[in-house]
Amino acid sequence: MASDMTSPILDALSASDAPIISSETFPSTPSLNIKSAIDRLASRHMVEYETIDKEVVVLTKEGEAVVANGSHEAKVFEAVLAALDGLKIADLPGIVGKENALVGQGNAFKRGWIKKDKDLLRATTDSIVDETQAQLLNIKQTQTVTDKKALTDLKRRKLINVQKVITFKITKGPKYTKEFVKEETDLTTEMLQNGSWKTAHFKPYNFNAKGAPTPSGALHPLNKVRSEFRSIFFEMGFEEMPTNRFVETGFWNFDALYVPQQHPARDLQDTFYISDPPTADLPREDPEHDPHRPKTVHQSSATEKKLDYKEYWDNVRQVHEEGKYGSIGYRYPWSADESLRLVLRTHTTSVSTYMLHKLAANPRPARYFSIDRVFRNEAVDATHLAEFHQIEGVIADFGLTLGGLIGFMEVFFAKMGIHQLRFKPAYNPYTEPSMEIFGYHEGLGKWVEIGNSGMFRPEMLEPMGLPKNMRVYGWGLSLERPTMIKYGVSNIRELLGHKVDLNFIETNPAVRLEKE
Ligand code: PHE
Repeated sequence: MASDMTSPILDALSASDAPIISSETFPSTPSLNIKSAIDRLASRHMVEYETIDKEVVVLTKEGEAVVANGSHEAKVFEAVLAALDGLKIADLPGIVGKENALVGQGNAFKRGWIKKDKDLLRATTDSIVDETQAQLLNIKQTQTVTDKKALTDLKRRKLINVQKVITFKITKGPKYTKEFVKEETDLTTEMLQNGSWKTAHFKPYNFNAKGAPTPSGALHPLNKVRSEFRSIFFEMGFEEMPTNRFVETGFWNFDALYVPQQHPARDLQDTFYISDPPTADLPREDPEHDPHRPKTVHQSSATEKKLDYKEYWDNVRQVHEEGKYGSIGYRYPWSADESLRLVLRTHTTSVSTYMLHKLAANPRPARYFSIDRVFRNEAVDATHLAEFHQIEGVIADFGLTLGGLIGFMEVFFAKMGIHQLRFKPAYNPYTEPSMEIFGYHEGLGKWVEIGNSGMFRPEMLEPMGLPKNMRVYGWGLSLERPTMIKYGVSNIRELLGHKVDLNFIETNPAVRLEKE
């Protein structure tokens, strides 16, 4: 250890009874190292010490320059004296320099060394005593200033600085020895065999020392909040939908949701389209490799009807193009190519749609949820990213009403500690009626938008083959918003993406939603 200062300190103690040690004694050693070495010796009772705080006055670079070459005012005086017929004020900076002219002129006037005669400066005496220089020279030697006024004056002129110096007065302790004996930290087999344990110095155990942090993984705050939401859903009887498919067709993401092909959400500026491959096959079920096929949802049963994906596709086309099921439709030429284009899913409602269609094989009350990533072609700023996570739930049942949806929301959000809700009529192509949900945030003291919801339209549900009297609630919210509020993160880029600070991830606390 290059910075082990224990032996130099013990040496100093053998040379003198009570050496005074400071950072000046060992100029190339940081004072922290000196202190820790003294502490180490003191903890073994080899030395005792007293700390003395002392203030010393040192010259700044400018102060040193004054000692070497004279003060600003002396320079001004010399220049004025040298100009026998008086010196033009305007010429002064050119001769003595700007800084000297500026500071020195005033001081030379104050001391009565020069006077003003129209625009000329004239000397009033032949010789002066440069007190500032003498004063600084004295300070350089003594490191102190006794005159308070002089101290503030020179400090203000930035010619001196006051520095704290810590000195240690050291004396021998009861266990003083000339050498610092290495302390053993462990009793080894060798020490037992060769008997050296008998004379070895053992270091006492420090039971207060903190252990080294063990490297380990850490859950991202989004994952922590996600798991809280999952438990709320499970607790309310929901099954999780399989969302492991980021790429969807326009069909599952838009058309099946009765989003017309001209809808602005389908524009390039809002949705990411896949260029290679650009399109998919017609919608179908693949029992073996269907990522949407969960283990728990939709176990096949004897009563299960075989789903006809071609018929579903045709129904969707018809309801857009011609109208069906009592709806007049949008009445525009529907393009199959547009529907087969591949997109990065813009919401997880594409998965809900797939699952609701599967429910038509065996229609019965069902509650599904998902929490996963979605993508939107948005300008990235403090609160928006091109990808985020959606929490989504759907409830299918017979005889559901809008009042029931509002009632459900009150129970659902109360589980997150949000007890006051407001609903605002909104528009979604796939729900009617639709409601934006606002919650009163106690912490922020204001109403914040917390979700979007509605009852799925017959134009979306009937093409699937779901019974006419079956109603489906749907709602969605972002996972980022509650996470940012919980963890007090104001910029979303600190939460997700390449700017995330890993230390933040490792040290953030567990989250608990204030449940009822
Ligand atoms: N898909 C909607 C969104 O992205 C959320 C939603 C889901 C709304 C289901 C209504 C029904 O905001």
